[in-house]
Amino acid sequence: MIFKQRVSRERGLIEGDRLMELHLYPGNLCNRECSFCTVLGNPKGWYKKYTSEHLEGVLQAVCTHEGATVKFYGGEPTLDFENVIWAMGYLREKGFLGSFVIYSNGIQATRLIQMIESDPLKRTTASLNYSITTGDGAPPMPEKALKILEEYESRHSGTIAIGHPAILDMGRGFESFRGDSTRPKQSSQCPHCYPVLTTRGRFQACPFAVEIDAPHFQLGTLHSPPEQISRNFKIFLNWLDTVHESYAVKHHLPACTVCHKHLKDLPIPSFLPEKA
Ligand SMILES: C[S@@+](CC[C@H](N)C(=O)[O-])C[C@H]1O[C@@H](n2cnc3c(N)ncnc32)[C@H](O)[C@@H]1O
Ligand code: SF4
Ligand code: SF4
Repeated sequence: MIFKQRVSRERGLIEGDRLMELHLYPGNLCNRECSFCTVLGNPKGWYKKYTSEHLEGVLQAVCTHEGATVKFYGGEPTLDFENVIWAMGYLREKGFLGSFVIYSNGIQATRLIQMIESDPLKRTTASLNYSITTGDGAPPMPEKALKILEEYESRHSGTIAIGHPAILDMGRGFESFRGDSTRPKQSSQCPHCYPVLTTRGRFQACPFAVEIDAPHFQLGTLHSPPEQISRNFKIFLNWLDTVHESYAVKHHLPACTVCHKHLKDLPIPSFLPEKA
C-alpha cells in the first residue's frame, strides 16, 4: 500500500478565540452508502453548497496562519468538486494560509486530483476512506481510480493519505460493520476531534456526530461571535473529560456508543447562552 496514514495534530488547540482546525460539512449526500458510515452518507442524502456567508463564518472561527487546517468532508466532496474548488479559492483570496484536507472515497479520482491541484499554495492533501481503498468492509473503489491515485501519490509523496482503520460506533453503528472483525474499535476515551461548521449554519462539536440533532453538540451558529464558539468548544471538551468519559468507563462502553445510544442519560454541557 503506497498511501501512508496521516499523523493527527494535538487536540483542542485554540489561539485567542480561534480554533486551530475546523471541519466543513455540506451534508451527507454520497455516491456510496457504507454500512458503517458515521454520518449516514447515501445517494439521497441532503446537500447545501458552500457560500460566501458560510466561508466568512469559517474565517472568523479558525486561525488563518500556516499552522491552521480546514478539512472538507461530507458526504462525498468530489460530487460537487467545483463548489469545493471555489470555496478553497475564496478562503485563499481572503488570506487563509493554512492547509486543506479533503476526505474522499476516491471513486472520482480525477476530480479529487483537480481539487488538490487547484490550491495556489499547494498545501492541500487528501485522506482516503480506509474501507473503500482496501475493500475491507465496503466494495473497493474501481481499479482505475485506485491506479490514478497511487500514481499521483508516487509522484507527489505525502499528498494522498489513507484514513485510520478504526471503526467508531456512530451513525449506522458497530452492528452494521461487515469487514474484518479484528479492525480496531474505540476505547472509552473520545478522540477529541475539532468541531464542524455545517452549511446549514451550525457549529457542532463533533464531526462524527454531525447528524445527531442533540443539544449536547450545539456550539452555536454562523452568527455567534467567535469567542462563544471557542468557549463552548472548551466547555464541550471539559464535559467529555469529566462527564462523558466517566459514564463510558463506569458502563464499560466505547466512547462513541455513549453519544450514539446513551446521550439522554447525560447532562447537557453548560454552554454559554446565545447573545440576543
Ligand atoms: C464520513 S466520511 C466522508 C468523506 C468521504 N465520503 C469518505 O468516505 O472518506 C469521512 C471519514 O469518516 C470515516 N468513517 C465513516 N464511518 C466511520 C466509522 N463508523 N468509524 C470510523 N470512521 C468512519 C470514513 O472512512 C472517512 O475516512
Ligand atoms: S463513509 Fe464516506 S463514502 Fe461511505 S457512505 Fe459515508 S460519506 Fe459515503
Ligand atoms: S465519543 Fe462522541 S464526541 Fe467523541 S468522537 Fe465519538 S461521537 Fe464524537
